[in-house]
Amino acid sequence: MLKILLSGACGRMGRQVAALAEDEQAEIIAGVDVRAESYASFPVYPSFSLVQEDAQVIVDFSRPEGLSALLSYARAHRLPVVLAATGYNEEDAAAIAQAAKEIPIFRSANLSLGVYVLKTLARQAARLLPDFDIEIIEKHHNQKIDAPSGTALMLYDAVSQPGALPVFGRNGRTQKREKNEIGIHAIRGGTVPGEHEVGFYGPSEVVTVSHSAQDRSIFARGALRAARFVASQQPGEYSMDDLAKDMLS
Ligand SMILES: NC(=O)c1ccc[n+]([C@@H]2O[C@H](COP(=O)([O-])OP(=O)(O)OC[C@H]3O[C@@H](n4cnc5c(N)ncnc54)[C@H](O)[C@@H]3O)[C@@H](O)[C@H]2O)c1
Repeated sequence: MLKILLSGACGRMGRQVAALAEDEQAEIIAGVDVRAESYASFPVYPSFSLVQEDAQVIVDFSRPEGLSALLSYARAHRLPVVLAATGYNEEDAAAIAQAAKEIPIFRSANLSLGVYVLKTLARQAARLLPDFDIEIIEKHHNQKIDAPSGTALMLYDAVSQPGALPVFGRNGRTQKREKNEIGIHAIRGGTVPGEHEVGFYGPSEVVTVSHSAQDRSIFARGALRAARFVASQQPGEYSMDDLAKDMLS
């Protein structure tokens, strides 16, 4: 059994990971969450400094605000980490790169293997359809804080060429679409777990590739697979590309 320390344990995703751990031959040995509500057989601490259990890997579904404490703990205990929270800024990215010199860190804004396939197909379509206009649409539940989603930005990176111009919505625009624009549009409502579509609009034809998450378990399963993968890696930064390579080898 892979022993996991679960950060953000009391959140929606933390609870999903806890519920699915056993299916993926893993065990949550303790949680960390500012809410510190114990809801399963493992203890949940309000901070890393109180953790007494020995884990093999940390899975983090908290918030970027918790990054610094998490990285300090992981470095001090030489623990690999899966960073699943979204919304990191440039300073956070630099701190992650620095820590990755000492510990293995897996990071992905979307841990679903299905979304990874969407990204791979979208990247290939962008190469094969260089003159098509690209528009990205994402839909999420009404509780989501950040917009556009981290996944929409990841898809933008996958399909954009140097000189591309991201355009977030077109409210108030009074000019035609520029050739190098890539539109990114966020819809918020209800309980939608997450939908992403990349559309390629060309002369007389439209190609769309899309992914629809039916519930959040896909991210939890991806995080558990990433945890198993990163637990046996050398220090460095890892992504879904590395997990996919490992699965195909
Ligand atoms: N990478 C992916 O595939 C993926 C998928 C879904 C969600 N997410 C991201 O995961 C994060 C959590 O999502 P959620 O829906 O579970 O949110 P949530 O608000 O339900 O849960 C977040 C939990 O983290 C706790 N928390 C907040 N700040 C903390 C800190 N400083 N230290 C410890 N715990 C802290 C909160 O108390 C809460 O219980 C978000 O950033 C979300 O965007 C990523």
